[in-house]
Amino acid sequence: MSSSFHKCQIFIPLIFTVIGCKNTSNSKVDKGIVIEKKVDSLLKLMTLEEKIGQMTQVRHFWDISKDDVATKFIGSVIHTQGINPGETAKEWQQKFIKLQKQALSTRLGIPLLFGVDAVHGQNTYNGATIFPHNIGLGAAANEELVEKAARITAIEAQATGFNWVFSPCIAIPFNEKWGRVYEAFSESTELTERLTKASVRGHQGNLSAANTVIATAKHFIGDGATDYGIEGGETSLNAQQIEEKLLAPYKAAVKEDIGAVMASFNTVTGTSMHAHKELITDALKIGMNFKGIVVSDWKGYSRFGGNNIINAGVDMVMAVDGDLDDFQSEVLKGVEDGSVQLSRIDDAVRRILRQKFKLGLFENPFPDATLITKIGSPDHRKVAKQAVRESLVLLKNENKILPINKATQKIVVVGEHADNSGLQSGGWTVNWQGTKENYKGATTILKGIKKQSKGKVIYDKNATGNHFDADLAIIVVGENPYAEFFGDIGHESNQLELTLTKEHQDYIKNYQEKGVKTVVVLISGRPLVVADQINKSDAFIAAWLPGSEGDGVAEVLFGDHNFSGKLPHSWPKSVEDFNNKYGPNFWDNSIEPLYPLGFGLTYEK
Ligand code: BGC
Repeated sequence: MSSSFHKCQIFIPLIFTVIGCKNTSNSKVDKGIVIEKKVDSLLKLMTLEEKIGQMTQVRHFWDISKDDVATKFIGSVIHTQGINPGETAKEWQQKFIKLQKQALSTRLGIPLLFGVDAVHGQNTYNGATIFPHNIGLGAAANEELVEKAARITAIEAQATGFNWVFSPCIAIPFNEKWGRVYEAFSESTELTERLTKASVRGHQGNLSAANTVIATAKHFIGDGATDYGIEGGETSLNAQQIEEKLLAPYKAAVKEDIGAVMASFNTVTGTSMHAHKELITDALKIGMNFKGIVVSDWKGYSRFGGNNIINAGVDMVMAVDGDLDDFQSEVLKGVEDGSVQLSRIDDAVRRILRQKFKLGLFENPFPDATLITKIGSPDHRKVAKQAVRESLVLLKNENKILPINKATQKIVVVGEHADNSGLQSGGWTVNWQGTKENYKGATTILKGIKKQSKGKVIYDKNATGNHFDADLAIIVVGENPYAEFFGDIGHESNQLELTLTKEHQDYIKNYQEKGVKTVVVLISGRPLVVADQINKSDAFIAAWLPGSEGDGVAEVLFGDHNFSGKLPHSWPKSVEDFNNKYGPNFWDNSIEPLYPLGFGLTYEK
């Protein structure tokens, strides 16, 4: 067909002849039938090259040159670590509008999906509202709140030009050594299932509205259950264990009509998940009746078996870091030589088009400029602050030292985590592996303490000030930001431990030994082995990774609000417990935690 043939000349009229007339009914079922007919009509018009193009996802930088979106019929663009689309949100939108126009200029004018790792708010945009990471939302265990947070994330993602987020992570982390524990809600399958539903509802809402996005359940499956918590390692669970422990949140996500599921990096009993037909096609697509897109993870095509991953059921490929041309030509070859069935390609493209129609992208392919003012707005931050307050878990409160009397004369606040929004936010904040700098619009824990206290507040960043005459020390310690691979304890790239650094242990020890009452706030993406520090402190709070509204922590410490968070993970007692915990023989539950799942104190009335 001639490339000058415009989509309106062939496509729109054809659609109307197929479906008779515009959809006049509002019912979900009718809408679904109309969409299926539109998908079928469009699919019939597509060449093999155009189909493979739809299956391709690229970055907006490095992977593509000027005209590739149009000439390679690209189906989706991802934004992640690397070059930002611009400075302001308006520039981000404009960058993506330009790419969208390229896609619309093609023969069939199929719009692009724009995907982003917005995993705790639109965290790739400096100035967005950043929520506590999912582990904190797991502690809050409030479905309504998770839904609201996801709705806000969707708005801020759309405001920066995206219609698809790679969230929520619904892994069940079995081992705290895994560097992605905090991306998941909880080690409880049941809690994860509940919060997954809320998250999908919040992101996707009525998907065709301008302020909603496609959500992605990730990573399918076993990402958090690898032996010894190694990212991309081996998950040695059998089918029954997978069914019992891991599948329920995916089933819930599919029931909520989630638009996408991302394949995981790990192997399951020796087979790469990307190439695992039994799990992707048989269990997910057929068994659960999942109608959305299975998207590969990073560079999944060249890493996990080329066309095998397509045959296993992967529909869209992150063709990044040099994979683009090989992916497109190898799949083409595969179809030509019969090693990849055309029906498999059609299934993949049908799924991708279905989501595009559901999003209303053909009618409204461009982001809504009026959403820009909502980025980091006071209303959004209010919800994020509520999430911070509800995520805090009180582990110890000796002699009712908390809530802090606002009239306390002299408070010393100790530790670099107390006054650094980057450190308090963890990985996937502004940068992939996070940042150690303050970022736009965020407040810190120290700022909140200063707002609450009516006495003198002194900041002793590295515990060198020796303010032993203080009435109270609030010591904020914890982990530095990390994300996938680099956050695994035992990974060659780091010297991470399940314990606090010696320096941070000493912050607590120094003040405690001088008889100062100490309140310890732990910033971490997982439970750490801190039994000794809990012993030494008067009060101890697990604050997880609060995100941009750090001052919310102080509102609870000073009693404006009560503690309500409950542990989303059992808490380890000793490092030894973790040496083998959840190794291949994780099924042995003999390890006694320091605190069980669900533990959390409150202020007594
Ligand atoms: C991660 C995914 C993420 C993707 C895109 C991968 O390395 O595992 O969770 O969505 O990159 O940035």
